[in-house]
Amino acid sequence: MVDEPLVLGIETSCDETGIGIVRGTTLLADEVASSVAEHARFGGVVPEVASRAHLEAMVPTMKRALDTAGIRLSDVDAIAVTAGPGLAGALLVGVAAAKAYSVATDKPLYGVNHLAAHVAVDTLEHGPLPTPSIALLVSGGHSSLLLVDDVAGGITPLGATIDDAAGEAYDKVARLLGMPFPGGPPIDRAARDGDPAAIAFPRGLTAPRDRAGHRFDFSFSGLKTAVARWVEARQRDGHTIPVADVAASFQEAVCDVLTVKAIDACREHGIDTLVIGGGVAANSRLRALAEERCQRHGIRLRVPRPKLCTDNGAMVAALGVHLVAAGRPASPLDLPADSALPVTRVTI
Ligand code: KG4
Ligand code: ZN
Repeated sequence: MVDEPLVLGIETSCDETGIGIVRGTTLLADEVASSVAEHARFGGVVPEVASRAHLEAMVPTMKRALDTAGIRLSDVDAIAVTAGPGLAGALLVGVAAAKAYSVATDKPLYGVNHLAAHVAVDTLEHGPLPTPSIALLVSGGHSSLLLVDDVAGGITPLGATIDDAAGEAYDKVARLLGMPFPGGPPIDRAARDGDPAAIAFPRGLTAPRDRAGHRFDFSFSGLKTAVARWVEARQRDGHTIPVADVAASFQEAVCDVLTVKAIDACREHGIDTLVIGGGVAANSRLRALAEERCQRHGIRLRVPRPKLCTDNGAMVAALGVHLVAAGRPASPLDLPADSALPVTRVTI
């Protein structure tokens, strides 16, 4: 078995073409080509546009990554690729490219789960993940609490959003406030000048009656509607919208619920490590509030730096390293892209 496997990771599940190269827990290259600017005027990712952009970016991004790492493709021990969940056409571009690279170099291919990769990436910054850990995964498409016994194969979902994902709520509220897509970064910035206690927005699924059946689930669509109603009412009355206060109050509601439930999951399972991943983990308030609350409860918090939280190829390579090191079998060369791959399946 290889001690410190050298793995190349390919990510194309949404609008970022990512190629990462990792040796053990050392990041050698993390090249990302984003098509986000092409989607901005539509207010969301257009699948066909994303697929075409992946096709165009794949080879140049691969070249940049190999140059940065100072290796040849034939040097790697394995190739890992996001096989799901994500946009079907976008995933297909990455999976097809990975198969071609695997056949050309005769290297094993691992089709991996995007959500598990968001958890595994933290090892690049903080070293091996203590197990078991609780993972809070918050992105544009997913919001989940996971019990992680082994990132290479033992992930149990504890709860997930029953409607919008946290990032989706950021994107929709940003649109409502006239901010660009994706909405997380502009809301994060605007909120710095606002009062998080200015408006009491609802905290979904935290009332005692909801907690019974949905203790570790999330709901953000009621919050999004509450923000829309509040803004509409002000506009109807001819008032200007205090954008910074709305952004800060909305953000506080999201981060409050995410951190309360994540810590509750740690305490319920007697686990003292919380790792947060996914694009929303780049949020400054989520990071600060999680730190504050984890400290209060004696929980170790691990959140990778913002660039590793949003989609990238390094996270796929990092998970690939775990799979190779654990001696997991490679995927068959006819592996499919599975847009609805459940988090319980780390490899295909
Ligand atoms: O993980 P990711 O890059 O892609 C998915 O797998 O979905 O997450 C993208 C999401 C978007 O909804 C974006 O608005 C959100 O992450 N996001 C943020 C921040 N940066 C990105 N949300 C809040 N605050 C941020 N700073
Ligand atoms: Zn993601």
